[in-house]
Amino acid sequence: MSDHTIKINRETCIGCSLCAKTCVAHNIKLDDGKAKIISDNCVMCGQCSAVCPREAITISGYDMNPVPRKETVRLDPDDVLNVIRFRRTVRQFQNRGIPEHVRDQILEAGRLTHTAKNLQDVSFVVLDKQKGWIEQMAVRLFRRIKPYADLFSPMAKNVEIDDHFFFFHAPLVIVVLAKDTTNGILAAQNMEFVAEANGLGVLFSGFFTSAVNASRKIKRALRVPRGKKAAATLVLGYPDVKYLRSAQREKLNVRYM
Ligand SMILES: Cc1cc2nc3c(=O)[nH]c(=O)nc-3n(C[C@H](O)[C@H](O)[C@H](O)COP(=O)(O)O)c2cc1C
Repeated sequence: MSDHTIKINRETCIGCSLCAKTCVAHNIKLDDGKAKIISDNCVMCGQCSAVCPREAITISGYDMNPVPRKETVRLDPDDVLNVIRFRRTVRQFQNRGIPEHVRDQILEAGRLTHTAKNLQDVSFVVLDKQKGWIEQMAVRLFRRIKPYADLFSPMAKNVEIDDHFFFFHAPLVIVVLAKDTTNGILAAQNMEFVAEANGLGVLFSGFFTSAVNASRKIKRALRVPRGKKAAATLVLGYPDVKYLRSAQREKLNVRYM
């Protein structure tokens, strides 16, 4: 993470203690009726700044300011559930590029996603023009290991690894990198929803993600930083298939205790 400093303006602080109550690190206390940071033990989550009624708390070092929440943003729960119900993996794409502003909105969804310990360890590799030869590296790797997979998996035997096995001719691929895989996957899921809201279809390519993590060569080609791994690969494009029905899922498996 970049360098950040948290500041409390004692002039504007009214000592309401909302910041102290919300600080997960118990790092704020009232001193002389004003909020005060007591140690360096801060994950810079900014919750204190977000609850302050007087904008008395600021964090420096970000290239964005907090956006004031003007009206209550409420999602209709049925609409949200239907988005989940009707999203399907798309493997057939139109021969049509994705506008830059749509791509950027999808990336913004990734950037805005929360991370454990506010690590903000998620980064993205956008494969556009370089997609072809990078896919071929993964194809060569999978063709090499396929004979071994065939021994153990009857399903693998039926699969042919053609030249577009990973990206299905899609116009855009985004590899999500992270130190903590869970953080990367959360970002990827939010990105999928924004992609869907833009009329795109998405495939999570678990195979390509595995290829990246298994191959030093592909890691080098993608310039994966040390300490990070591929958490997810989103394959994106306008769908050339229309699903008329939702997926069927197994019975809800839940235990109430
Ligand atoms: C983490 C993850 C990895 C996946 N990897 C692949 C993949 O490499 N290739 C592929 O064709 N489908 C892949 N899929 C798609 C699944 O096969 C698909 O989600 C599942 O069959 C259910 O179909 P649906 O998404 O249309 O409901 C992946 C899905 C997930 C969630």
